[in-house]
Amino acid sequence: MRKQIAAANWKMNLTLDAGEKLMTEIMSSSFALSENQCAVFAVPFPYLINIKKHSDKENNFFIAAQNCGAEKSGAYTGEVSAEMLNSIDIPYVLIGHSERREYYGETKDILSKKLDLALENNLKPIFCCGEPLQIREAETQNNYIETQLQQSLFHLDATEIKDFVIAYEPIWAIGTGRTASTAQAQDMHAHIRKLIAEKYGKEVAESISILYGGSVKAANAAEIFSQPDVDGGLVGGASLVAEEFTTIIKSLKK
Ligand code: PGA
Repeated sequence: MRKQIAAANWKMNLTLDAGEKLMTEIMSSSFALSENQCAVFAVPFPYLINIKKHSDKENNFFIAAQNCGAEKSGAYTGEVSAEMLNSIDIPYVLIGHSERREYYGETKDILSKKLDLALENNLKPIFCCGEPLQIREAETQNNYIETQLQQSLFHLDATEIKDFVIAYEPIWAIGTGRTASTAQAQDMHAHIRKLIAEKYGKEVAESISILYGGSVKAANAAEIFSQPDVDGGLVGGASLVAEEFTTIIKSLKK
């Protein structure tokens, strides 16, 4: 069975003290995660080493970076490379979050370079895709997502893509309190899996976890995660509240 994943995305929130307190609270909850379940915490760069000490205490809990540089190394002030992340044992990295695409001009070519560097440095990418509201209203979201995958992902081969996590995050649902319906989430996840199957074969498509993101919270997680092609969630706002995120982890399919 595919990995079921609850991924927290702290974005640019919390001080280190507040982040450590949140982790202490979350980790004190008794989890009995199955082999197929895991929790991932995408935290700001300066907290990675400290927060990793918390997640290392429990099996199947992992840390992630929220981004990595598009160049290998060199004179790129303020950037953090995939190699640096690997050197501090960070297993996952978010790539292509809509906020990075929108506010930091991350283009398809930049994202494809980041994916290559992540893979070269043994990081598992959590690749984000998702359509804006006007695309959803025009009902052209399937083509839009297909283009996003083709442009940044489909140059990779089957062995590279096997370790991927994909997060489908409709932009109109991020931080808005408006969630995609379970049918909308399932339809898009099935569409993404079909596109991967067409390109890489059914076995690869069946092995890739596809997470839903966009206003996931304790109250709706179990329903969304119950859909057959939804393998967990990427969670922003609700991941900052211990009780909320703990319930979300516990809502993963076994
Ligand atoms: P949200 O954010 O849960 O606050 O909508 C999700 C995300 O951007 O990953």
